[in-house]
Amino acid sequence: MPKIVIAGGTGFVGQYLSKRFQKMGYQVILVGRQKGNIPWTDTDGISAALEHAEMLINLAGKSVNCRYNASNKAQIFSSRTETTSILGKAIENCSHPPILWLNASTATIYRHAVDRPMTESSGEIGTGFSVEVAKKWEKTFFDFHLPHTRQVALRMAIVLGADGGVIQPFKNLVRFGLGGIQGNGDQYFSWIHIEDLFQIILFIQKHHEIDGIINCAAPNPITNKTFMGTFRSVMHRKIGLPSPKWLLEIGALLIGTETELLLKSRWVIPERLTELSFTFQFPTIGKALDDILILK
Ligand SMILES: NC(=O)c1ccc[n+]([C@@H]2O[C@H](COP(=O)([O-])OP(=O)(O)OC[C@H]3O[C@@H](n4cnc5c(N)ncnc54)[C@H](OP(=O)(O)O)[C@@H]3O)[C@@H](O)[C@H]2O)c1
Repeated sequence: MPKIVIAGGTGFVGQYLSKRFQKMGYQVILVGRQKGNIPWTDTDGISAALEHAEMLINLAGKSVNCRYNASNKAQIFSSRTETTSILGKAIENCSHPPILWLNASTATIYRHAVDRPMTESSGEIGTGFSVEVAKKWEKTFFDFHLPHTRQVALRMAIVLGADGGVIQPFKNLVRFGLGGIQGNGDQYFSWIHIEDLFQIILFIQKHHEIDGIINCAAPNPITNKTFMGTFRSVMHRKIGLPSPKWLLEIGALLIGTETELLLKSRWVIPERLTELSFTFQFPTIGKALDDILILK
């Protein structure tokens, strides 16, 4: 049975990918902190699991949906860089290393953009805490030079799927009449349907010429205003009270998160995938939300 190793595979994205790969007939081995996974401390066990694996996908990282205090910040960094480092060393110790290593990264690495979209070739790297995390995460990954393993960093936009991520909180806001714009509503919202993310992974697996950085974002990013409007219309809610920045600041403090997650303008497009003629099943937000909110 062909095998795939997923690290940090018990979360939103990992569970979806595990199920999809298992359905295709793969054995999926998980590395992580939970019972039944290979623990991060078992470096020999990780190397053994990676022997002859078709692919390693690393998704491990403490959620950024928390207040950026010193302790959380340190964990956000280390849970990404240390896990990446353990996996790279484990591959170096393999006799038959995996052919492909995909490491999660984030589209948040690009700057706050309201003037033009960010691509892999012309995008500008931003500043601030989450950008520093992304930079260090990718640097740790690309500092490994592995002769037999192709390496691709997935700069993921906000992943939309029925079973996790941001959909449930947005659903609640819209349901309670609070699904208006956040801030001035002009900030861009780059997103990707979780099934398209899975299809991108299969595409990268098949296209041996792909390495380096891939923006995993739908080709039609939208503004927050359009996103909230589409969300309301799919849920048949006419009214949605807006949330000005000051209100979001208070709300974020109360529920222990950061407004950056809502207010940063992420305008990211998948230039490389488009050039390689990748076909998105969910290219528009309407199609994606219809699928996620109605059919499921
Ligand atoms: N979802 C998105 O919209 C999105 C967008 C861009 C980038 N990303 C990145 O993609 C990755 C997967 O996203 P996700 O939504 O599936 O995240 P998630 O649901 O929060 O899952 C992340 C996984 O990381 C592991 N983890 C958490 N804290 C850890 C720690 N302190 N040390 C080691 N491992 C830890 C957990 O695995 P165990 O409990 O099994 O150890 C968890 O299953 C994350 O790194 C995230 O930053 C996500």
